[in-house]
Amino acid sequence: MKNVLITGGAGFIGSHVVRLFVNKYPEYNIVNLDALTYAGNLDNLTDIEKKSNYTFVKGNICDANFLQELFAKYDFTYVIHLAAESHVDRSISNPIEFVMTNVVGTVNLLNAAKHQWLKVGSQQSADSSQQTANRFYHVSTDEVYGALGETGFFTEETKYDPHSPYSASKASSDHFVRAYHDTYGLPIVISNCSNNYGSHHFPEKLIPLAINNICNNKPVPVYGKGENVRDWLWVNDHARAIDVILHNGKNGDTYNIGGHNEWKNIDLIKLLCKIMDKKLNRSNGESEKLISFVKDRAGHDLRYAIDSTKLKNELGWMPSLQFEEGLEKTVDWYLNNQQWLDNVTSGNYAKYYDEQYVKR
Ligand code: NAD
Ligand code: TYD
Repeated sequence: MKNVLITGGAGFIGSHVVRLFVNKYPEYNIVNLDALTYAGNLDNLTDIEKKSNYTFVKGNICDANFLQELFAKYDFTYVIHLAAESHVDRSISNPIEFVMTNVVGTVNLLNAAKHQWLKVGSQQSADSSQQTANRFYHVSTDEVYGALGETGFFTEETKYDPHSPYSASKASSDHFVRAYHDTYGLPIVISNCSNNYGSHHFPEKLIPLAINNICNNKPVPVYGKGENVRDWLWVNDHARAIDVILHNGKNGDTYNIGGHNEWKNIDLIKLLCKIMDKKLNRSNGESEKLISFVKDRAGHDLRYAIDSTKLKNELGWMPSLQFEEGLEKTVDWYLNNQQWLDNVTSGNYAKYYDEQYVKR
């Protein structure tokens, strides 16, 4: 039985990764480490929480001593690191929290893995051919590459040029992960993914926020003129890519993950309004009336678009869903899980919370 640590497994993407691994790999003991901040919700995992190969541990990656004890207890084979502060708008109002979790927390985890895996006299050392027995998988974002103009794509060779405190903190963590590979020989892999959408997405991000507001006949805020472009990927396809890269990716390498699915925000919101009119039996065009153009985000990146040719050619991964189909599935999930949404928006899901997070 291999022990596999997944950090941030109670969050949006993390919960999909945990679910995939718990169900697909009965031979792995999946340990989900999560601090349960405002973004972490154990209700995301009710379908698998009783499985015998799943363990939840509440803890903070900013606590280095706790991490060393956890690694000593479980002797993890793999680490899949997703825990992060993830919302750009929050990073603009409170950057230091992003530095703490995304940078310091990541370095704490790297230290714990290094301490456990690269012990003098253990099987592994910096130049050992067995390096790939362990793996530290760092889940990152395309936002580290900065913003594109009207054309072009981010490749794995694109120079880092982060603009928001969020993307700057993720870029920094990526650099640290590579540094631990280059300096100490830590076996690592990094992926940089485009915007995800799907079920269990916290309703502060564009798609779930818009679905929730349309349901409740509240204004749908569109920043600036809605001209910014994002490349949307179904979250389950991201989880599948993580599975493929963890097991087959090359030690030390980076892989871009994207949907080849670019949408201007305003066009996406209009499509969502159409789907919602149909689902809520509203007349055509009714939900669109809720669109409300608001002040633009500071430093708002114009366009993100990922070239995931490397992942396709080397590891055979491709997105499985067309966007319209995925968006409709997502809307259906929110409409069928009103209780989840009510709990999240009312704060009732915060049953295991630290006070500091509830209050935000
Ligand atoms: P999320 O905000 O939904 O979840 C983050 C999780 O991390 C939460 O469960 C939270 O409780 C936990 N967490 C936060 N701080 C912690 C700490 N100090 N210690 C332990 N746990 C902590 O985020 P998400 O959207 O699921 O993103 C997951 C990862 O994927 C992040 O690293 C993010 O940068 C990356 N990513 C996200 C997207 C996207 O579109 N959402 C795209 C590409 C990459
Ligand atoms: P978001 O979901 O926050 O993801 P990210 O900033 O990481 O790309 O935002 C997606 C896009 O939607 C981004 O261009 C900002 C925009 N946006 C709005 O127009 N209105 C909103 O209420 C939100 C949350 C985002």
